[in-house]
Amino acid sequence: MYTDKFTIKQNPVILGIESSCDETAAAVIRGRKLLSSVIFSSASEQAKYGGVVPEIASRAHTEAVDEAVSEALEKAGVKKSDIDAVAVTYGAGLLGALLVGLSFAKAFAYALNVPLIAVNHIRGHLAAAYLSDEGLEPPYITLLASGGHTAVLYTKSYTEFEVLASTYDDAAGEAFDKVARILSLPYPGGPNVQRLAENGKNTVPLPTCLVKNSGGQRFSYSGLKTAVLNYCHNKTQKGESFNREDVACSFQRAAIDPLVKKTVESAVKLGVPTVTAGGGVAANAYLRESLSAACAAAGKKLVLPEIKFCTDNAAMIAAEGLLQYKAGNFAKLDINAAAQIPLK
Ligand code: KG4
Ligand code: ZN
Repeated sequence: MYTDKFTIKQNPVILGIESSCDETAAAVIRGRKLLSSVIFSSASEQAKYGGVVPEIASRAHTEAVDEAVSEALEKAGVKKSDIDAVAVTYGAGLLGALLVGLSFAKAFAYALNVPLIAVNHIRGHLAAAYLSDEGLEPPYITLLASGGHTAVLYTKSYTEFEVLASTYDDAAGEAFDKVARILSLPYPGGPNVQRLAENGKNTVPLPTCLVKNSGGQRFSYSGLKTAVLNYCHNKTQKGESFNREDVACSFQRAAIDPLVKKTVESAVKLGVPTVTAGGGVAANAYLRESLSAACAAAGKKLVLPEIKFCTDNAAMIAAEGLLQYKAGNFAKLDINAAAQIPLK
């Protein structure tokens, strides 16, 4: 008989499972130590359609989840009977895709009679920093930028954070993907914009995405994306050529500089000594360089997750799972997947 009353161990072995978008991932941690991380991606299949097709993602997860988990256990040198908890992304994401990982995790937890931990994907991105620094402790300020969220967060304890600034409209990753389309770059957009920007110059005038509101400051990526679109259209309509590399470089700077500025300014203002980053856009080379430089200049310690732990992976889900495990936040087996979960 499955129960949701479990004893909390000091260094549990946690299996993490992630299937919210086009990555099917599994990972194993023991305490804060990462033992294995396996990622299968349907991105090359999705690229044929210019973006993620939910049905293709769900089918790919169905085919890959068993193998991803088996490989993660094997690489970790862990038997099923060693697992103390199963942490899985229950949202936000594509519903059908989430259901594959969640159903698998429920069955696994039930069969092993271990706790099921339902992880909010975005908290997983936040927890990725723990994989890079086993000694990391709150408080810290995080620059969080993915395909669905963009925010500067103040993590006060292992389970609590405050949103200092977030986006009104599009997320930064979404803007990268839309600008990639404007520049006729293939999916996935972000890394391709980065590549094109490498040889470009910051010469195209674009608006800032940091806007003031009555409560302080927020980000807006919709205007920035439209400004890129208008610039390219106007040039084309006038029969003038434009340098795509310069557009990519100028956009990248306009999208990232305000995020870096707000993050480091927040750390200084609040007297928080440590800064972290997370989410797919934190894989961006320009973001990583400028955040490193800004933190060094401000005397702040920067904990930057490895690139493979910025984009979707299950190691971050296991890492967040550990925090929830320690807090005794176990899920019931009837928990459902959620396509949307508010950031806070
Ligand atoms: O965190 P993530 O893998 O998935 C979500 O939870 O959304 O983020 C995906 C987003 C996509 O919009 C992708 O274009 C962007 O992260 N991204 C990048 C880079 N790598 C991924 N954006 C800019 N530069 C990159 N190198
Ligand atoms: Zn993600």
